Amino acid sequence: MKKFETFIWKLFGLIAILGITSLIYSCTGPEGPSGPAGNDGKDVKTVCAVCHGADADDVNLKFNQYDLSKHNLGVIYEEEAGRLQCGGCHTGDGFAEAATIGKDDPVSKASSKINCKACHSIHKNFDSTDFALRISSGFALRHTGANIDQGKGNTCSKCHQARTFTRTVPDTITRSGTGTYSRFGPHYGVVANVVTMNGPYQINVTGGDAYPTSNPHATLPGGCVSCHMGSDPANPAQGGHTFKMLPANLSKIASCVGACHDANKIANSPKALQKEIGDKLVIYRRELIDRGWLDTSQAVLPDGGYQILGEYFRADQAKKEWSNPTEVEVVLNYLYLAKDRSLGVHNPAYIKALVNNGLKYLGK
Ligand code: HEC
Ligand code: HEC
Ligand code: HEC
Ligand code: HEC
Ligand code: HEC
Repeated sequence: MKKFETFIWKLFGLIAILGITSLIYSCTGPEGPSGPAGNDGKDVKTVCAVCHGADADDVNLKFNQYDLSKHNLGVIYEEEAGRLQCGGCHTGDGFAEAATIGKDDPVSKASSKINCKACHSIHKNFDSTDFALRISSGFALRHTGANIDQGKGNTCSKCHQARTFTRTVPDTITRSGTGTYSRFGPHYGVVANVVTMNGPYQINVTGGDAYPTSNPHATLPGGCVSCHMGSDPANPAQGGHTFKMLPANLSKIASCVGACHDANKIANSPKALQKEIGDKLVIYRRELIDRGWLDTSQAVLPDGGYQILGEYFRADQAKKEWSNPTEVEVVLNYLYLAKDRSLGVHNPAYIKALVNNGLKYLGK
């Protein structure tokens, strides 16, 4: 609420300043701006009301949906703000700056929360063109360097991708041979890598599942956006700018039902897939813990909850030389799949094959 009040006061302030400026201009000279550039002759209030007025239903709905989003509610920002090497994905101005200069990381900004201005150019032309997306074409992934194109989902993929990590031969999980690197692996946002099949390792076992060569969910018209911003016409608090993709809601998302999925089937099949993958990942995790390869101690939250993003490769294995690279790959694959958190949906046949073959390799 406080945020909203501050906003309103700032808004009035700006309108007053712009109003006074145009008044001064109209008193002292002939060609003063009566509003932002490009809106000749239009009253400033009318210009602003396109987005800030009580009748701006569409934009207001987006503000309301965004209030529910983890981009708005999440707390990681509080920890990582100010750090340029994290700001490309954890701050709004950092993301915007990096996008503008065509780099992965910002060079000078990392201070605001992920806000509308992160993804849109806001207050440039003062009309709907300000909602154009900052990332409008495909790009090379940080890890593996493969070029991907997820359409509108490029905006999402730019942040929800693995960070780089370096493997040695033979594998060790130390950083440059010195200290222990406790975060060895793909970091937390791995979805773009899993969706586009760039990162996880294809482990082959006799009698195992074949790896598919394509993912039907990687070629949706809007990529990530088709699902996560798909709307449920009956419930404006779902999809859109909440970015939430609730399995219970899948059968109502307009972009899933129709061409590809039958409404009844989609209400059940993802549930079955998610249960199967979820159950298997529990066995996979247990086996890695029993072998002493996975550290889950940081995943247990103070309130007793469990945050899967807090699972890591066991740092005390750092000094060990992993002469068998497949063992390292089996752990890294688990980290990709667990942190992906779609339990199969992002890339059904591929995730299934990775899980099944990983388990088989582990003798499970
Ligand atoms: C095309 C839509 C659009 C128009 C037109 C528009 N705004 Fe905004 N404005 C936004 C959005 C979206 C935000 C939220 C930005 C964010 O949170 O990243 C915003 C935020 C603001 C803020 C809060 C501070 C900030 O910059 O985040 C103020 C003040 C403001 N606008 C004033 C104005 C004034 C004054 C006008 C008219 C001259 C205007 N806006 C016209 C979309 C618009
Ligand atoms: C500027 C980087 C950035 C962009 C762009 C971005 N995200 Fe995120 N996203 C994040 C971060 C960081 C979090 C975690 C925030 C937190 O918990 O504090 C997150 C959280 C999420 C979550 C919630 C995860 C959970 O734990 O519940 C979803 C879903 C999501 N993003 C989907 C998307 C989609 C879809 C898009 C594209 C339309 C997108 N994101 C664009 C950085 C980004
Ligand atoms: C390539 C983009 C990217 C970069 C760069 C990045 N992160 Fe993240 N990070 C993410 C995304 C996306 C999430 C949220 C993943 C999700 O919710 O699915 C996340 C999640 C996190 C989390 C939450 C983990 C948990 O256990 O809840 C922490 C902490 C974090 N990042 C720290 C950092 C730090 C520190 C840096 C800089 C050294 C950094 N990140 C750089 C994308 C990035
Ligand atoms: C994480 C990135 C992200 C953030 C943050 C974000 N948006 Fe968007 N926005 C998108 C994407 C992606 C689309 C395209 C959705 C589609 O085509 O279905 C979009 C579309 C829109 C549109 C429709 C534009 C059109 O041409 O139809 C409006 C309006 C809009 N956003 C407003 C906002 C407002 C207001 C905020 C802040 C409260 C905001 N957005 C924050 C990613 C974002
Ligand atoms: C085919 C539809 C679909 C596509 C395409 C898709 N997702 Fe998802 N996503 C889902 C579903 C379903 C879940 C699982 C949600 C759950 O179980 O709560 C999910 C989970 C997630 C999560 C974890 C959120 C949570 O609540 O645990 C993030 C983050 C995410 N997706 C981001 C993305 C990004 C980024 C892309 C594009 C690279 C993408 N998704 C593409 C359907 C999709």
